[in-house]
Amino acid sequence: MIKNPSFADRPVAVLFSGGDAPGMNAFLRAVTRISLSRHHVPVLGVRYGYAGLVAAAKMDFEPMRAQVETRIGRWGMITDGQPLVLMDHSAVSGIVGTGGTILGSARCLEFHKAEVRADVIAMLKKLGVRALIVCGGDGSLTGADLLAKESDLRIIGVPATIDNDLDFTQMALGVDTAVNTLVWAVDHFKDTARAHRRVMILETMGRGSGELARLAAIASGAEMVITPDPKPLTQADMKVLAASIERGMKAGRSHAIVLIAEGVKVEPEIKRNRAYVLADAFKEHFEREGGPFQDLEIRPSVLGHLQRGGHTSPQDCILAARFADAAMKEIMRPDGANGVTALRGGHVGIVPFDAPPVEDSEERSEAYLHLHESLSSWEEL
Ligand code: F6P
Repeated sequence: MIKNPSFADRPVAVLFSGGDAPGMNAFLRAVTRISLSRHHVPVLGVRYGYAGLVAAAKMDFEPMRAQVETRIGRWGMITDGQPLVLMDHSAVSGIVGTGGTILGSARCLEFHKAEVRADVIAMLKKLGVRALIVCGGDGSLTGADLLAKESDLRIIGVPATIDNDLDFTQMALGVDTAVNTLVWAVDHFKDTARAHRRVMILETMGRGSGELARLAAIASGAEMVITPDPKPLTQADMKVLAASIERGMKAGRSHAIVLIAEGVKVEPEIKRNRAYVLADAFKEHFEREGGPFQDLEIRPSVLGHLQRGGHTSPQDCILAARFADAAMKEIMRPDGANGVTALRGGHVGIVPFDAPPVEDSEERSEAYLHLHESLSSWEEL
């Protein structure tokens, strides 16, 4: 008979923080199953990221613990006001390829306060938690690093962000799925672009990083990709880009797909989506007096959160399982260290929170841009 998970067996706590990323559910399923089946260690799911820990720390301890031990798995997850849930096999059944995160995610400003983190640490220790796994992006892993420095709790971070802006790993969870989604989106826009002989300008997410846009451009065959650079893009720069499209049109091209990352800086700075700023500059160029394509239609679109959702790609599900495996092995090692799971040189392992960047991370971004340029060579027909 399977016994109910309980605090007596010192659970591993797991939370998802920041923007959701495809692969988070696959990770939760893998970590729960590996922990329960291989190590016989219970898993404590934290709802809504650090906010769940903060909420639990504010509750009366004994009734909170009693509630968690009574309302297990899916029952706990549908109980309003229960921030911690002991997971069982069925709680993670059927979620491997689903987007979002069944435990919920959040950004938690309160957690920035040292005294709030101290209360959280005290609560986790009182519960007998053996390790905390934090799955998320840059800010979430910084929070995990702080907890590791401020306590003797075992802390493991897991990179999950569609931005792929964490330089200690070649890939974060969610990137592969988001690239797939962008390729799908570009294909759809291409149909209309071709049919109407249009230029479609699509804005991708990625915060300050251009990695997502670059990967999507290579994989989708987009004609042009514009990614963040320390030097802002001026109106003159935008006209140069439009002129390049014009040369392609003169050579016989009928349409163009332009990807622009949301983090691209423009001059003069304006709080407006980059796709619209660029579209206006392009229109001005093409509509100029005597221009050869004055009727050319330019359409901007901001792709937004569709990039974060949807069915998780097999690659992300596999990476999630590999990260979960590495995390649990490290947690179960008597002399295991704190750190983050990382994919480096094809291998998955644990590296310190302050690990140096993957050797090729900057060059890789540059290489992606050059690769895209060589592939598009789109001014010729
Ligand atoms: O970090 C992931 C991300 O999707 C970024 O690419 C984007 O800038 C941001 O989150 C959007 O955040 P929100 O969901 O709060 O709008």
